[in-house]
Amino acid sequence: MQRNVIFAAAAGTYDVMRFVRALSRLEGVRLLGVFGRLDDEVRALCHDVARVDDATSLDDLSEAVSLLTRKHGRAHRIVGINEVLMVQLAQVRERFGVPGTSVRAATLFREKAAMKDALRAAGLPVARHALVASEREAFAFAEAVGFPLVLKPPAGVGAKSTYRARSGDELRATLALMRPSASRPVLLEEMLRGTEHSFETLTVGGVPRAFSFSNYLPGPLEVVENPWMQWVCLLPRETKGAVFERARVAGLAAIRALGLDDGMTHMEWFARPDGSIAIGEIAQRPPGPQLCQMTGLVNDVDIYRAWARAVVEGVLDAPWHRTFAAATAWLRGVGQGRVASIRGVREAYQVLAPHLVEARLPTIGKQKNDGYEGDGYVVINHHRTEEATALIRAAIETIRITYA
Ligand SMILES: Nc1ncnc2c1ncn2[C@@H]1O[C@H](COP(=O)(O)OP(=O)(O)O)[C@@H](O)[C@H]1O
Ligand SMILES: [Mg+2]
Repeated sequence: MQRNVIFAAAAGTYDVMRFVRALSRLEGVRLLGVFGRLDDEVRALCHDVARVDDATSLDDLSEAVSLLTRKHGRAHRIVGINEVLMVQLAQVRERFGVPGTSVRAATLFREKAAMKDALRAAGLPVARHALVASEREAFAFAEAVGFPLVLKPPAGVGAKSTYRARSGDELRATLALMRPSASRPVLLEEMLRGTEHSFETLTVGGVPRAFSFSNYLPGPLEVVENPWMQWVCLLPRETKGAVFERARVAGLAAIRALGLDDGMTHMEWFARPDGSIAIGEIAQRPPGPQLCQMTGLVNDVDIYRAWARAVVEGVLDAPWHRTFAAATAWLRGVGQGRVASIRGVREAYQVLAPHLVEARLPTIGKQKNDGYEGDGYVVINHHRTEEATALIRAAIETIRITYA
């Protein structure tokens, strides 16, 4: 018996295809694609594909699902991995009576203010926050909470349009830029202090069955604020200790509170200087591509297959045993314009080669990416955390990018 699994994405990008391939390799699955852009590999791996103008549009998605189910019969699952699609996919599932994460849960995982309310109601530590529609409301919040504050879109991604305000003047200037209104409020948060980390789980039947941690070096907002920094995400091999344990307990409670059934989760959290933790946010999707890959590496599992088995069959493929450390450095240089040169690649390769998992070098001539994830990356792994740290430091110190 073949079960229809519908996977939706804007395009079959390099990162998306890892999940598509894993789905296509499952036994007894007839993979049906919904894509904004079609290419040969998408066509080859999917039994059938529907093209949509806008993969984030509920109407377009519904129409595509309706077309595919008329041709092939009802869908067993409707899944995706992109943050901007998660709520719409839940809505489509609801429309077509397909099991999976509910619209309510998907919305709580997506809307940062509602998420924080739900987490706080469950007794979990989160930043104080307010959705503000005007400068007056923003200053009232600042009065109550104090500076510094973080300003961001209520459902943003990738630290886009996210700012820190250290004073009333900075708050006023940032609000002038973001222009909050009743229909487009801005999310204001107390600034959490300490180091930033992530916590990933593979959750089946509502129960997190496997999990993993990472350290952000430093937090994305700090990387955005400091053009000379190159972001590193390190997955230490050792994740024991009171602070990780607090984060794990809070993470599991967060998943229960928001109500996920099957899938991967990606939570960001802060370890405060006093040893306490606070949750930054949590998403009901795999983490970003390199973090996802590293989660598989350190735990010695095929993470894409594990995700596919969880979302399609509701099972955990294999237990996770953490046997490696891994790290990714996102490559960027200072300056503006297009990538003009990349130096030090050969030298870096000599040092990294035995432990190099993947590298994507910036493309000469390509416009600089203004996000904290830069223009390329290097992923390494090593069985010792100390060595992994030294290797990734060597990568960012050796590879040099210029723009013109
Ligand atoms: N309340 C906060 N306290 C400290 N840092 C924050 C806070 N909110 C956001 N940040 C910083 O901004 C980054 C982006 O914010 P986040 O809420 O994770 O949104 P997204 O990742 O969806 O863009 C975080 O990773 C963190 O570095
Ligand atoms: Mg985030």
